[in-house]
Amino acid sequence: MKDIVNQHLADIEAFLAETPEEIEAFRIKYIGKKGLMPALFTKMKDLDAEQRKEAGQLLNQLKNAVNDRIEILKSQTNSSSINFQTEDDLSRPANFAFEGSRHPLSIVRKKMIDIFARMGFTVEEGPEIEDDWHNFSALNFPPEHPARDMQDTFFVDKDPDIALRTHTSSVQIRKMENSTPPIRSIFPGRVYRNEAISARAHCFFHQIEGLYVDKNVSFADLKQTLLHFSREMFDAETGIRLRPSYFPFTEPSAEMDISCNLCGGKGCGFCKYTGWVEILGCGMVDPNVLKNCDIDPGVYSGFAFGIGVERITNLIYSVKDLRMFSENDLRFLNQFKAAH
Ligand code: PHE
Repeated sequence: MKDIVNQHLADIEAFLAETPEEIEAFRIKYIGKKGLMPALFTKMKDLDAEQRKEAGQLLNQLKNAVNDRIEILKSQTNSSSINFQTEDDLSRPANFAFEGSRHPLSIVRKKMIDIFARMGFTVEEGPEIEDDWHNFSALNFPPEHPARDMQDTFFVDKDPDIALRTHTSSVQIRKMENSTPPIRSIFPGRVYRNEAISARAHCFFHQIEGLYVDKNVSFADLKQTLLHFSREMFDAETGIRLRPSYFPFTEPSAEMDISCNLCGGKGCGFCKYTGWVEILGCGMVDPNVLKNCDIDPGVYSGFAFGIGVERITNLIYSVKDLRMFSENDLRFLNQFKAAH
């Protein structure tokens, strides 16, 4: 039975059709009343219980393969549900509609947003084409800072004032310019950097920026918020580690690692055998940045963070190559059908 089924499976995979009539003939050949499948099912009755179970599974596999093939052929020949079979047979079942699925980055972004929303953060967005003020100057970047360089930033029409934003921190400025504290918001979005595309780097990726400005906001608040986020996102055992770092717009600044959830912190290829993986940059909003937005640093303080959405997604789904996210390969995307 196994050999027969395998031969049929190979035939089915290889079958091509150009017209709806050919697809219909294919369907009748296999699953029509007098087709191959009903005949095989009849044969099954002669087998003993053990063999029958195995044969049943094989035949189901075959039936699914036929149906899948028909769906693929139908989409290729563009046959609409009306003219696919006899036009006036209104009793026949409707064709299956192809169901799309959410992109893995959308699934993860939504989960991240939900966690912050539960903590009272509002969700806002800013433009992807930014001016120098919002992307750099207001964020306290000195004029000679290397991040402004042509090598990192995509400028629009060679205008040094207009560029694709290199981070979502630009939206912090827009938010602070347009509102008064208390501010508790996150800003999800796409950012761009002029980098060679490889498995580990891309010229665009996604971040979720967070900003909290109020009276008496402390570094302890930042730590607790990020610990809570990490444990909600991964699991209650997840640990965090803050390493001192530098960003022009935060002081003090840190980069945050979480315990590698692929190996449980023991060390593996993904965490380069350190047990930790970096997921975000953060810090206390620099007083100069508050001043640039007309917020009095003598009265208010705040924290900010920027999380890489691809990073989190890779940790959850073990996606090894960043290019997968933007190639629209259905073999990759269809794996996330059950995931939302
Ligand atoms: N904007 C920084 C980056 O893209 C991340 C960051 C955001 C750091 C907020 C501190 C505060 O790397």
